[in-house]
Amino acid sequence: MKKFFLFLLFSSLVFSCAVSEKNKSSSVSINPFQYSTQKTITCSNGAVVSAHPLASKVGVEILKMGGNAVDAAIATQLALAVVYPNAGNIGGGGFMVARLSDGKLIALDYREMAPGRAHRDMYLNEKGDPMHEKSQEGHLSSGVPGTVAGLFSSHQYAKLPFEKLIQPAIDLAENGFAITEREASSFNALQNDLKNYNTVTPALAKENWKKGDTLIQTDLANTLKRIRDKGQAGFYEGETARLIMEEMKRGNGIITLEDLKNYKAISREPHTFNYKGYKIVGMPMPSSGGLLLNQMMKMIEDRDIGKMGFLSPQAMQLMTEVERRAFADRARYMGDADFYKVPVAMLCSDKYLQERMFNYDPVKATPSSMIQPGKLAGYESEETTHLSVIDKDGNAVAVTTTLNDSYGSKTVVGGAGFFLNDEMDDFSIKPGVPNMYGAVGGEANAIKPGKRMLSSMTPTIVLKDNYPYLVVGTPGGTTIPTSVFQTIVDIIEFNMSTQDAVWKAKFHHQWLPDEIMIERAVPEATREALRKMGYTVKDRGPIGRTEVIKVLPDKKIEAVADVRGDDAAEGW
Ligand code: DON
Repeated sequence: MKKFFLFLLFSSLVFSCAVSEKNKSSSVSINPFQYSTQKTITCSNGAVVSAHPLASKVGVEILKMGGNAVDAAIATQLALAVVYPNAGNIGGGGFMVARLSDGKLIALDYREMAPGRAHRDMYLNEKGDPMHEKSQEGHLSSGVPGTVAGLFSSHQYAKLPFEKLIQPAIDLAENGFAITEREASSFNALQNDLKNYNTVTPALAKENWKKGDTLIQTDLANTLKRIRDKGQAGFYEGETARLIMEEMKRGNGIITLEDLKNYKAISREPHTFNYKGYKIVGMPMPSSGGLLLNQMMKMIEDRDIGKMGFLSPQAMQLMTEVERRAFADRARYMGDADFYKVPVAMLCSDKYLQERMFNYDPVKATPSSMIQPGKLAGYESEETTHLSVIDKDGNAVAVTTTLNDSYGSKTVVGGAGFFLNDEMDDFSIKPGVPNMYGAVGGEANAIKPGKRMLSSMTPTIVLKDNYPYLVVGTPGGTTIPTSVFQTIVDIIEFNMSTQDAVWKAKFHHQWLPDEIMIERAVPEATREALRKMGYTVKDRGPIGRTEVIKVLPDKKIEAVADVRGDDAAEGW
């Protein structure tokens, strides 16, 4: 008898989808109650790096089942929506950059969209002052979610049926998983917000979470099952849409059934450029990521930064100055190109970028007051998550998705079990008024119905001899493009190991405020040298959670997860 109970206990612990969903078995075999976190791996057949060990494991199981990197990326995102609720999501949006084994390059935009009833001044009070509390929390802060549309749109490049890819997430939600220590403290810190922004008690509402506690999310499991059974309509129509509507009514939100039904993921032309023989593939508007990376890399290309050395005052100064200049352009010119004419070609032309560096002084800071957005001839007018995946056939996928802030709007859709984003704050709610990441903007990124808010997310693939060399990305708001920039420079120019490039110190400058934000590990001598050159140097907490996959010359795969979080690298 005792043995039988032990057996029952064990079989309920080892999470096998066959137990809960006959015929819809994903047959992934992962123990969600006992798992370890691996930070690096070198392997041959494929790898997944993501923000949570269980999500990375789900991705690799899908590869082992015969899925390609796109299958794995879809399953990993869905698993993250369950095991990493502060950023993994179905109530947010994201971008996928991919290079398929036949060489095809893909950029998929499933960014959230302003609802039809949104308008330019919706976050200003009668006096015209910004109401950040409305754009950053609660029902009014949410854009129309894009993630589910993105998952289905990317599925055209996948091999396995969608049901198989979503089943591990359903099981994790239904049967639960053991939370990490970091999650326990994050859930504990969230409790007041949950009370303030919810009328229906969410699964996360509980005092005193501890490492190893089980999180079961029944409402979320049911939503995922509707998506499994009805496809995209299982989210944007029917019961889930009805629950979103009811939530909107309870909290005076403005997303309508029509907004949900009209949402579409959009395939875009990737933003590509060459850097010293590498081809870099990034996300175009409405992400500023690809263009900013292009501008920053091109502004350093002919300056032999490799000789200056990692974290040397000279290298940090040069990188800071190009970051400053690129971000000044972001504020003025960048936004959803379907609504605003973004002068992409001019902003990344060699001539323009050379001129942009005319007042660069290698021994002195250029104050931001002296850097305005560049003049163009003939021209008018922290919580996100990244995953990198590769398979043995050279399919490489970089996905960054977000709810914007940690747990987004902090509002869970009652009865549907998922957080809605607070992405509306990524619009410029008033010209020159900083958003939660300090980014400023104007007309290019003003709110309009149906428009997508400007992003900094920078999922990126670096190709060498037309084969994937690096798959890179990170969360971190406006620090995203600069972290991706630094990671690529660390590997290509400073010849650093992948692990050092991911784990070692990062820094950030975004034009305004005029300061270099620096992780603590930057040496005092470098800080002092920078201060002497006229920089304001400010300590800040960890920058990003970068996930990198590098393909070695013998085609072995090296995957590295950031030490700044629970992030994990899995492969086989
Ligand atoms: O799209 C963007 O740029 C932001 N919503 C990203 C937010 C983010 O990275 C928060 N993570 N730490």
